[in-house]
Amino acid sequence: MKSDFMSRPSEEVLLEINRLKTYFFTEEGVVKAIESVDLEVYKSETLGLVGESGSGKSVTALSILGIVPDPPGKILDGEVIFHGQDLRKLSDSDMRKIRGNQIAMIFQDPMTSLNPVFTVGDQISEAIILHQKVTKKEAKEKSIKIMSLVGIPSADERVDNYPFEFSGGMRQRVMIAMALSCNPELLIADEPSTSLDVTIQAQILELLKATSEEFDMSIILITHDMGVIAEMCDRVAVMYAGFICEIGDIMIIFKSPYHPYTRGLLGAIPRPDAARDDLQIIRGAIPNLINPPSACRFHPRCDYYMLGLCENILPELVEIEPGHSVRCHLYTDEGKAWMAERGDKRVIGTIPKSIAG
Ligand SMILES: Nc1ncnc2c1ncn2[C@@H]1O[C@H](COP(=O)(O)OP(=O)(O)OP(=O)(O)O)[C@@H](O)[C@H]1O
Ligand SMILES: [Mg+2]
Repeated sequence: MKSDFMSRPSEEVLLEINRLKTYFFTEEGVVKAIESVDLEVYKSETLGLVGESGSGKSVTALSILGIVPDPPGKILDGEVIFHGQDLRKLSDSDMRKIRGNQIAMIFQDPMTSLNPVFTVGDQISEAIILHQKVTKKEAKEKSIKIMSLVGIPSADERVDNYPFEFSGGMRQRVMIAMALSCNPELLIADEPSTSLDVTIQAQILELLKATSEEFDMSIILITHDMGVIAEMCDRVAVMYAGFICEIGDIMIIFKSPYHPYTRGLLGAIPRPDAARDDLQIIRGAIPNLINPPSACRFHPRCDYYMLGLCENILPELVEIEPGHSVRCHLYTDEGKAWMAERGDKRVIGTIPKSIAG
């Protein structure tokens, strides 16, 4: 785990998302995928975005870049402020200049984002030519350079290969090379290593970490793996069914998670040193977002559910301490009043020893 969490590289906010709301209007009904996402990304930091499958991590990433498939998707509300300007207000052509240039993305499945009929060199070069004034020859030389930088051996020969001639791990490196080719300030990496075996996964994460330092780049790292978050991130945003439910420095959240959902995610990490009973599993499953639970969407799965409150009033995001916010009635004035009225001095469950460390 990153130990020097206090030395976050910068306090300068690079990206700020406020009240982002993205729905999908499908034949089955309206999928309320992102209800209200608020987060910020600081310059040079790695922010983890974690949550169960279907919690809205990828849709958040697509919304930042303005590439939510429309139809059926629509961003209905919110601001995506990058360098002080709201990306939602930019024209398509201005947004295209930012995409792949200042903000780049690595997608969940590299095979779907590489074109099988062009060589990888052509594809990296195309990304470079799109954003930089260079000749074809210079772009190819740059492609070779960046391919070796991301650890592709014999890059000067491999540059003329097609995607199918690369292994899964090498294809992911090609994707990273493409994303880095324009020195982006922000890289959004959506599960960049999930489809790879464990050793290659570690190498890809290591590569991302090294390049983020070298290029002084911020990363939003999307994963459902708390272990990866611990290894890679400065801060973490925990997402559940279209909301950020907790956000803060990695050491603080791992030591004292406040939201019952974060506690559940952390409790579900199997550890060799933990007793079997320490392993907590969050009961139930993520809801159907066409007809999600009202107010706090986690309430049907929550051990601390306050009847009459949690299903009626959406908790505000409460700042527990500087930089650490939680969206849960255990910490709101309404929740405190509920507990006081019932004489219920709720103390939420003790954290497993293996996590409290
Ligand atoms: N094109 C689409 N049409 C309809 N619904 C969609 C579409 N894309 C995403 N959704 C819905 O939006 C919700 C959030 O999906 P998203 O892909 O962001 O989840 P995720 O957190 O990235 O999950 P995973 O960990 O599986 O990648 C889900 O309910 C999903 O079914
Ligand atoms: Mg996803």
